[in-house]
Amino acid sequence: MPLFRLCPLQDAPAPGKARHFDLPDGIGCALFHVDGKLFALQNNCPHMDSPIEDGAVERGVLTCPWHGWQFNVATGISLMSDHIRIPSYPVRVENGQVFVELP
Ligand code: FES
Repeated sequence: MPLFRLCPLQDAPAPGKARHFDLPDGIGCALFHVDGKLFALQNNCPHMDSPIEDGAVERGVLTCPWHGWQFNVATGISLMSDHIRIPSYPVRVENGQVFVELP
């Protein structure tokens, strides 16, 4: 899987926050910092394609800020249905840099 560098680790979002990054081909990625771990999801809610980076995360559950759909922040899978999911990207930190694995 190709790696794509997002940022230096010091530029990753603060705990409890998220930050948008542009991936190749114009895809947006939201990088979340949750309980000391980084998670990357495509920055589009499957409901109405709105950005999710401002969603709250509690106990590993991301709530879309627009209409409240909820997802597992680690997997992108909806709490309503396993058939609804936000694409997720495995995150790797190497040599002080944050990378995501692209499909
Ligand atoms: S756009 Fe996310 S719940 Fe509607």
